[in-house]
Amino acid sequence: MLLNASGCLDALTAPGVARSLDGFVTKTVTPLPRAGNPPVRIAETDSGMLNSIGLANPGREAFLGETLPRLRELGMPLWISVGGFAAHEYAETCTALDDVTIELNLSCPNVDEAPESAAEIVAACRAATGLRLYAKLSPAAWDIGEVARAVEAAGADGLSLVNTMRGLALEPRTLQPVLGTATGGYSGPALKPIALAAVYACSRATALPIVGMGGVRNGRDALELIAAGASAVALGTVLFADPDAPERVRGELLAELATLGLSAEEARGIAHDPAFPRLKVETLN
Ligand SMILES: Cc1cc2nc3c(=O)[nH]c(=O)nc-3n(C[C@H](O)[C@H](O)[C@H](O)COP(=O)(O)O)c2cc1C
Repeated sequence: MLLNASGCLDALTAPGVARSLDGFVTKTVTPLPRAGNPPVRIAETDSGMLNSIGLANPGREAFLGETLPRLRELGMPLWISVGGFAAHEYAETCTALDDVTIELNLSCPNVDEAPESAAEIVAACRAATGLRLYAKLSPAAWDIGEVARAVEAAGADGLSLVNTMRGLALEPRTLQPVLGTATGGYSGPALKPIALAAVYACSRATALPIVGMGGVRNGRDALELIAAGASAVALGTVLFADPDAPERVRGELLAELATLGLSAEEARGIAHDPAFPRLKVETLN
């Protein structure tokens, strides 16, 4: 299953790109409208991108009244990314939703940390809705497997791994921060090993299905996340440079799987199976 990463695709301005995915994930919706952070909000770096969008969004009321009905017209599975600044704010948005999957953004590096823990927020949302709940975690946690176990115990149905890492870019001549907020969220190729480590750790720690994301540019990257334990893959930063990435990555992934002689389901988690390379070599001989 191929999705977009939250905040990296606007399905209403690019419906064709959205339809080339198996589901569309919205930008994070917060209870009140947010103008977002002051400019500059995007900075290119050597091996990734920094953003400090700051959860700019029209707020829950406008989202439910205007955006969501238009997204429904796409006729595809919708994932609503829910944000907030307290557990009850997340829960109130969950209560207002139906017939979607919910992705709880527990990890935006561009706003102050929520006072409640990830597990407390998941528990409040679990009490508020019977919809499928995915917890999107920060790769910055010291022991992400422990966070994963805590959100599983609190009632999460799946994990989205990973959000961006906090980073800083300096303007070459003035040596001042490029972004208006100084630091921002770092995404793109440099995130891939970090995402792989998070998916690997969480698939050992829990039985929850995982949407893997972070620096995916091609089918090989997607295969690696699946091998680490992901059952779905999301495309983020790559979509800004290549809107055709969904079709391309899907084709490349199928070719990679065909070379291995495995289905996506069979390939899931093979990085945890020390017998795999030997079996593979025996098959090829
Ligand atoms: C411009 C931009 C905006 C983003 N906005 C959100 C957001 O609103 N909510 C969220 O959970 N993640 C957001 N993210 C993080 C992505 O969903 C994804 O977790 C991250 O970029 C890692 O994937 P990538 O390296 O493929 O981009 C944003 C990322 C970028 C680059």
